[in-house]
Amino acid sequence: MLLFELKKNSSTPLYEQLYASIKQAIIEANIPIGAKLPSKRKLAQFLAISQTTVELAYGQLLAEGYVSTKPRVGFFVEDLESIPLIDKPTTAPLQTEAPPAWRYSFHPGKIDSEHFPFSSWRKYAKDIFDESSKELLSLGDPQGELALRTEIAHYLYQSRGITCDAAQIVIGSGTEQLLPIIMRLLGDDAQFAVENPGYSALPRIHLQDVIPVSIDEDGLRVDELAQTNANVVYVTPSHQFPTGAVLSMKRRAKLLKWANEYDNRYIIEDDYDSEFRYIGKPIAALCGLDQNNKVIYMSTFTKSLMPSLRVAYVVLPPQLVQTYRRLFNYYSSTVPRFDQHILANFMRDGHFAKHLNRMRTIYRKKHDLLIEELQQYAPKIEVFGERAGMHLLIRLQHDETEQQLKQRALDAAIQIFTLSDYTSTKATSDSPTLLLGFGDLHETQIQKAVQALMDALHITKK
Ligand SMILES: Cc1ncc(COP(=O)(O)O)c(C=O)c1O
Repeated sequence: MLLFELKKNSSTPLYEQLYASIKQAIIEANIPIGAKLPSKRKLAQFLAISQTTVELAYGQLLAEGYVSTKPRVGFFVEDLESIPLIDKPTTAPLQTEAPPAWRYSFHPGKIDSEHFPFSSWRKYAKDIFDESSKELLSLGDPQGELALRTEIAHYLYQSRGITCDAAQIVIGSGTEQLLPIIMRLLGDDAQFAVENPGYSALPRIHLQDVIPVSIDEDGLRVDELAQTNANVVYVTPSHQFPTGAVLSMKRRAKLLKWANEYDNRYIIEDDYDSEFRYIGKPIAALCGLDQNNKVIYMSTFTKSLMPSLRVAYVVLPPQLVQTYRRLFNYYSSTVPRFDQHILANFMRDGHFAKHLNRMRTIYRKKHDLLIEELQQYAPKIEVFGERAGMHLLIRLQHDETEQQLKQRALDAAIQIFTLSDYTSTKATSDSPTLLLGFGDLHETQIQKAVQALMDALHITKK
């Protein structure tokens, strides 16, 4: 008889304990192949458990193929060789590393965490989670909620000079998530050109031959682009990431002309980080100048609201909307409907515009303070790319390489990034260049943060 010790007070049900014990005995060959298991009644009696418990355990063993059954005869142990037992490879346990505790972080992607309008956001969140919104429990439009797309179209018209219909907008959970969709719309033959230095997502996603095109103080070198065989170019015209250059009017016209030369040419305009401009007048989006449906416009709420919201959007030219619907209408939206409505209502009632205005003042203050501090180290350092966004760049007169300087900062628990972190060709510039994000540095921290960084880099005031 099979004597198994079953724990009646355990949280594991008795039938599961019995099943696991018999299974183990079979695997270890303690019960030989072909052996008949005791009848349910006998085993139940022997172990002082119910017959149902034995029945459930035998049923599980049968379902997994450890035993077979002959009607009215009983259960028999199967030959394990015929069962596809999968040995789990022994792998080293994965380590979860705690994020480093930075003394100061100059991360260019960080936003101010002190002034988020929690109370109004909470109000809209509370309002939407109500029985009257029960319709939102079902799946919504794959392109995103019409209410949010309508608000975005309105915002783009008012603030970015873009006229578009809500039907052209697709909402997704981030630029990185939308880029592969755009790539698929443009077909497998598309040859992509990217800014160099630039945002690394596209080369990361499109691992093959993405063509790097240089940047100068007027933005993308369109003459260089024209020498390549690219038919799609990814640009950040209003605030080049990361150099901060603005694509000049002349270059904009040239770029649109380049796109108009062939039917399969497109411009992907990423308007990331263009909401906050501190010097000069606002720069309208390139998409607003496009007369021939050549610009695929994309933007995100990552900087204007929060990176964790995971809401970005793309405005497709009408001819690509049809392709999108054919290829993607079976996919559900990646952004929860409730979140989309919170954001739509927040925008509808003017809170988004108010938040942007308020944050513009806050970021301007931090920006000015940072420049004031950095200027004390001129001419050893030169500030540029400081007109907009949440970071600026400093060019250093230094013998050490960017990576050496970065390492010194990291050793002092200061998080910084270098220009070569964003270049596809690994040639570094003659003068090491660092990116200094100020989004989440508190105004009272800026002076100390700059001092600590300059100490770590061994740069003294003039
Ligand atoms: C140019 C550019 N676009 C977009 C993003 C990220 O956008 P999202 O948060 O929507 O994925 C980044 C992030 O660094 C970026 O540098």
